[in-house]
Amino acid sequence: MPSVYFQTFGCQMNSADSDSLLLALANRGWRQAPSPEDAALIIVNTCSVREHAETRARARIAEFAAVKRRLPGRRLWVIGCMAERLGARLRESMPVVDAVIGAPELADPEAVLDRHLGDDPREDPSPIEPKVSEFVPVMRGCNNFCAYCIVPFVRGREASEKAETIVAALSARVARGVREVTLLGQNVNSYRDGGIDFPALLRGVASIDGLSRIRFLTSHPKDCTEELIRAMAENAKICRHIHLPVQAGSDRILTLMNRKYTADRYRSLLAMIRRLLPDADITTDLMVGFPSETEDEFAATLALVEEARFTTAFMFAYSVREGTAAARLRDDLPREVKIERLNRLIALQTAITRDGYESMVGRTAEVMVYGPVEKRGEPYLRGQDRGCKRVLVARCAASPGTVLSARILRSSGMTLVAERE
Ligand code: SAH
Ligand code: SF4
Ligand code: F3S
Repeated sequence: MPSVYFQTFGCQMNSADSDSLLLALANRGWRQAPSPEDAALIIVNTCSVREHAETRARARIAEFAAVKRRLPGRRLWVIGCMAERLGARLRESMPVVDAVIGAPELADPEAVLDRHLGDDPREDPSPIEPKVSEFVPVMRGCNNFCAYCIVPFVRGREASEKAETIVAALSARVARGVREVTLLGQNVNSYRDGGIDFPALLRGVASIDGLSRIRFLTSHPKDCTEELIRAMAENAKICRHIHLPVQAGSDRILTLMNRKYTADRYRSLLAMIRRLLPDADITTDLMVGFPSETEDEFAATLALVEEARFTTAFMFAYSVREGTAAARLRDDLPREVKIERLNRLIALQTAITRDGYESMVGRTAEVMVYGPVEKRGEPYLRGQDRGCKRVLVARCAASPGTVLSARILRSSGMTLVAERE
């Protein structure tokens, strides 16, 4: 049986793309290799969002190239966002790469395999390990062109799947044992299929029997409506988590970024969410050091973070991406200033995150169990509450996909430790 090794960088969309390519390979008889040395085909799924993401991918590709030289006959594919961004340039700089397959092509994994596996013999389908929680892209691409962002260039324009196709595919996944899905889109709440908008899609998905939990990522503030939050509030299956990237707290910077909202508009969204869904975990993405950001403008980001009480945040220093609108602005902030601002922001948010987790101690959480895990020699079940908090439950008899009530005993960093009630 031929075997494949995957190395996936980047966001959940890349994980979903790797999973569906693996599934298509498994249907042709491929199995997953335990290490790159054991694999006939090595696939690196890449991210371009920041310079650093590309540097890491290149380093990994170089390691795989060494494996290929040592053990000839192996194939190396580079797929995803960096593959799309660099195209043929990537093969010129790294001739060891056998195929470069851009992110948009991955929407059709069968076509990818037909093109790149050529006449490889097909074998009987090989089994792949069932999962209880899966990512499901419902729309791809992005039309927003935030000034700093490469995603619209590497993922193309927005395209939504048909709602009936999504519901049918989800029902099939439930039949395979899936109990939780995360609906994915760069701006998932801009979803539209004719008259079906994202709240309507959520309501349709919530009606699927056997599906216990629904999550979704990422919501753009410009399309975050009261209707969406009401759809969440009305459906117990929809998890109490909304990821709503704000990026910055200064209106001048938000305008330069082309984010299409003001800090006050974002504040009123937070107030609306807290009113309709008081227990919700709200998480965000933040960026420091956008061209021309002043110390006062950075302080506006700190003030917003202080006020918002996000459960967690992903925080980044601005990185110039060739071809974007912001690349025409002068990247005027020295690296030390960006890093110093980033560190202050991380310190503030980390304290808020810790408080939020501490406040859960003594409470009861509904935890979906994903599987067994050992931590410092102790047996646990790893899972997640109805928001976005990871929970370790002292090991008990509960199979993956079960939702159980657990009392939170303590918080350790970004994990809650609990026991079944
Ligand atoms: N579609 C999502 C986010 C996609 S990228 C959204 O609209 O929010 C994930 C995060 O990476 C962004 O929210 C942003 O904070 C960060 N990011 C994107 N481009 C970046 C860049 N050029 N430099 C630094 N961070 C960036
Ligand atoms: Fe990038 Fe903005 Fe699109 Fe998000 S909404 S993917 S940050 S361009
Ligand atoms: Fe990176 Fe592509 Fe996702 S650039 S963040 S892997 S859409």
